[in-house]
Amino acid sequence: MDSPEAAPEIREAAETIRGCHHAVALVGAGLSAESGIPTYRGTDGIWTKFGEPTIDGWELFRRDPEQWWRDALDRKNRRSEFSTAIESAEPNAGHLALAELERMGRLQHIITQNIDNLHQRAGSVAVTEIHGNRTKARCLSCGERVPLEQVSLDRLPPLCAKCGGIMKNDTVMFGEPIPSDALRRCQVQANAADVFLVIGTSAVVYPAADFPVIAVRHGATLIEINPERTPLSALANIIIRGPAGESLKCIVDLLSA
Ligand code: OAD
Ligand code: ZN
Repeated sequence: MDSPEAAPEIREAAETIRGCHHAVALVGAGLSAESGIPTYRGTDGIWTKFGEPTIDGWELFRRDPEQWWRDALDRKNRRSEFSTAIESAEPNAGHLALAELERMGRLQHIITQNIDNLHQRAGSVAVTEIHGNRTKARCLSCGERVPLEQVSLDRLPPLCAKCGGIMKNDTVMFGEPIPSDALRRCQVQANAADVFLVIGTSAVVYPAADFPVIAVRHGATLIEINPERTPLSALANIIIRGPAGESLKCIVDLLSA
């Protein structure tokens, strides 16, 4: 069905996606805001309210993985506002629209900074989780990623069933290098994109914020969906200043018409 009321920038975004060969989206916490998960920065951001977490997480893990796991399991028992929100969150219209775009052959890849697993639950398949996934654990030696519930916590730190290496939670900590296979996939996607969507991210965390810049350098059209201005706004060809869920749904409706 056509949406005669769609704003011109939404129509332009839909037409650009219709005419492109390889669309890639970089996603941030703003996409999951409509699922009730607070963002990190900005007015309602959890870090704005409670301060940023310690930046030595990776250092602490490396120094004493056993103690780190004990502390992590202890924290799990003292549920925070954030963990309660993330545990009860359901995919929203934005996640569903991105999954639909992939099914329609209009979106080739999602690079997500979100750890909430909502893309997969919405049905997206071609996803690189550059900051990991909260429902998984990862081996620091061979990179194997497995669902957390399959990891035995009888012995801490847990060891990889494949190679015996130390497992950590898959979420990337401050100071921790991004797993190299994920980084490589993002670089390939940024180079291949002729349309690059930047959705719900403040675009201040690297290397994620570099991928749209790489894509633009290769000639990609940049589409930003965010109610607020970001450092990437100056580079964007099309700017949709609205919530991601509504805007993406509208784009899907136009492309289905
Ligand atoms: P931020 O909290 O930095 O930014 C959230 C962005 O979402 C802001 O630009 C908001 O304007 C925007 N926003 C809010 N509501 C929205 C909505 N309904 N629709 C669209 N946009 C909306 O989150 P990220 O950019 O994802 O990393 O933060 C990047 C990384 O910072 C996170 O992955 C996290 C943190 O370090 C790790 O934890 C490793
Ligand atoms: Zn391993």
